This record gives sequence, C-alpha cells and structure tokens, in this order.
Amino acid sequence: MAIQIESQIPIGNQDIRLDEIEIRLLLEGIYQYYGYDFRDYSFPSLRRRLWNRVRAEQLENISALQEKILHDESTLQRLLLELSVTLTSLFRDPSFYTSVRDSVIPHLKTFPFIRIWHVGCSTGEEVYSLAIMLQEAGIYDRCLIYATDMNPHVLQKAKDGIYSMERMKEYEKNYLASGGEGDLSDYYVSDSQNAIFNSRLRKKVVFAIHNLAVDRVFNEFNLIFCRNVLIYFNKPLQDRVHSLLYQSLSQQGVLGLGSMESLNLTPHQTCYKQVDHQSKLFRRIR
Ligand SMILES: C[S@@+](CC[C@H](N)C(=O)[O-])C[C@H]1O[C@@H](n2cnc3c(N)ncnc32)[C@H](O)[C@@H]1O
Repeated sequence: MAIQIESQIPIGNQDIRLDEIEIRLLLEGIYQYYGYDFRDYSFPSLRRRLWNRVRAEQLENISALQEKILHDESTLQRLLLELSVTLTSLFRDPSFYTSVRDSVIPHLKTFPFIRIWHVGCSTGEEVYSLAIMLQEAGIYDRCLIYATDMNPHVLQKAKDGIYSMERMKEYEKNYLASGGEGDLSDYYVSDSQNAIFNSRLRKKVVFAIHNLAVDRVFNEFNLIFCRNVLIYFNKPLQDRVHSLLYQSLSQQGVLGLGSMESLNLTPHQTCYKQVDHQSKLFRRIR
C-alpha cells in the first residue's frame, strides 16, 4: 500500500514513520477482521480522523486504538462514524439538478424502464431530491432506484426520510433554484422539529449496503450519481471505483459527479462526453 504523507510534522511526540506503520497495521487489522477497507482512503484526512478517535477514546497512540478496536466492536462503530464524512443536503448544488432536469430527464423519458444508482447516498437527501424530480417529470413509477452506502447508520436515516425543519428554508431555496415546479413542503409533513418525507418518494427505492472498496458491479444503470465520495479516496481506489461505475453504466448512460470531482486522468476519461458545459454530468459514449 502506497501511503502519501501530508506533512512531516508528527502529531504530539509521535515519530512520523512509526505513525505511518501503526496506521497501516490498524487498517490491515480492520480489513482482515471486519472487512471494512480503508487502506486506500486519502491519507491526510484519514490520519487526522484516526488521531481524533485516539484522543476521544483517551488512548496514547494508534496501536492502542488498534487493540481496542480488534477486541471491541463498539469502538469500531465509533470509528466508522468518525471516518464517514456524511455531509449532504437536498438539491445540493442546484445548478447540477437544473442540468439533470433539462438534459438528462428527457433522455430517461425515452425508456420504458429506468434504473438509477445513488452511490454513497449518505442520509438520503440526494435520493429524495431526484425522486421529487422524477415524480414531477411523470416517470417515477417507471424507475427502479438503488441507494447504497457502506455505512448502515446513515442508510437507516435515508430509509426514515426524516430531516430537521431547521434546514428546510435552505432546501426550499435549493429546490426552487433547481427549477422545482411546486412547493417543497408538498413532499413532507412536519411536526415542530422535523420534516417527514412522503413514503411514496421511496416506493421505488432499494436501500442497501455497498462498499466501493470491496464490492462489485451488481446491475446496469441508465443514471448513476456518485457525488462527493471519490474525493475521500486515493488515486488507486478512485481508479477502481471509476472502472466499477463505467461497467455499471449502460451505453448512453449518465454519470453525475460532485462539483470537485472529475474524470480527468481516470482510466475511462475518453469513454464519456460532458452533457453540458456547466455541470458534472457525463454521458457514456463508448
Ligand atoms: C459526503 S457524503 C456524500 C453524500 C451525497 N452523495 C452528496 O453528494 O451529498 C459521502 C458518503 O460516502 C460514503 N462512503 C465513503 N466511503 C465509501 C465506500 N467505500 N463505499 C460506499 N460508500 C462510501 C460515506 O459513508 C458517506 O455517506
């Protein structure tokens, strides 16, 4: 495993080379024993998060964390929460959704049956956003949607579809900026604290665990969203995931990436054409 060191500054009195060895051993142990593979995550942020956990568990070093994790699964669960960056929102980057409405949905409408995959869907806001658009376009009932993540905690939240009312103003703005035709509140009921999204929006959604570092292709899709996930991986893992996404897309299928992600220098760069100039949507052309 090739690990790049972000900085040569040791954390505390810890020798940097020893730190790297301990982290490598910890990640190997987690992979061998629990099957979670973080060995090819971007090293600088991984290292920072591991040390956060060392401190939170009131331990001395990474080796002590390794011992605790291997003998106590609840420590692993806490680490998983630390390592997953689950930040997301409804209609995140509204202009991306405008392009989906204008340039992707008309193409999807030509199919009698539409398969969609949300990769790394986190707590599901992205899934509900697209479901609303599909419903407004009148094609939701023709869709089968897979929403996957490696983290079971966030998947449960995605299934529940309950989000804080505090964020609904921002989400309503995003929805309208994306070209939303109604009122976002048409899609949820609220109590004093939460917006509870209509269960009709998940009628066609299968929520499932899928880990991009270890799992394989499982279907062929007309549309895949893999947004704000690849940024956390190193280049070999990014390349693995790009191959998996490419193999999972049908001819003329569309891949949506996050605003900081691209296909440049990936093995399949030349197999896609950008759907329009402003958005990170790419059509598979070969
Ligand atoms: C920042 S969130 C992105 C959520 C959503 N796609 C968006 O753009 O708003 C990243 C998600 O990727 C998931 N993730 C990280 N590593 C993964 C892996 N190896 N396999 C599947 N999901 C992963 C995390 O659990 C997290 O929910």
